Amino acid sequence: MKITYLGHSAFIIETLGKRLIVDPFISPNPLAQQALQQHPDRQEVLDPRKIQADYILLTHGHQDHMADAEAIGKQNDAMLISSFEVVTWFAEKGLKGHPLNHGGKVSMPFGSLKYVNAVHSSSLPDGSYAGNPGGFVLWNEEGCLYIAGDTALTQDMKLIPMTCPKLTAAILPIGDNFTMGYEEAVIASDFIECSQIIGCHYDTFGYIEIDHEAAKKAFQDKGKTLHLLSIGQEHHL
Ligand code: NI
Ligand code: MN
Repeated sequence: MKITYLGHSAFIIETLGKRLIVDPFISPNPLAQQALQQHPDRQEVLDPRKIQADYILLTHGHQDHMADAEAIGKQNDAMLISSFEVVTWFAEKGLKGHPLNHGGKVSMPFGSLKYVNAVHSSSLPDGSYAGNPGGFVLWNEEGCLYIAGDTALTQDMKLIPMTCPKLTAAILPIGDNFTMGYEEAVIASDFIECSQIIGCHYDTFGYIEIDHEAAKKAFQDKGKTLHLLSIGQEHHL
């Protein structure tokens, strides 16, 4: 399973010959655009017009998670997977989709995918109700990955090791203010019984700027690793 960081909470996951894009917020993200200028060779992952994807996973309806979803979905005829309400909203714009709701899982050509609880809010740019926000657990023979989405620390995270295969890694928000901060993400990593954490939802805006060294040390002190990927960087599970 190959994971490429696109900035903020956006990732491309390549597994079993399929490409999934998670929470695409690339063209409005100044850090992603800066990275693209510095590394024109990363166009394939940082220019939404060039991004190839078979599936789009949206954790919730906020703009900083779905800004490029419609364009990427249309140019690839990609399948959107999200909450029932988010999938229905995008269906009206012509995107094909598969709806999920909390606690449900589905078998897809890229593996099993379960929609799990997140404590946050969710609404679409026009004010439409987006259902409750969520996260995903994705697993197949290449590994098991938890994508938390925007969330507070929650006891529900303890259900993940009880209901899913052993996690290989987890993508957790660490930027504080709108989600848990890194100190609580360390506790979350205990709840989900995972020691390989990939940080997201930090540094994009002033509200969520973090001290990278302090965040890494907080995990190190517990014998865990926090990976802070640069935009465009790949990580192999
Ligand atoms: Ni959000
Ligand atoms: Mn967000």
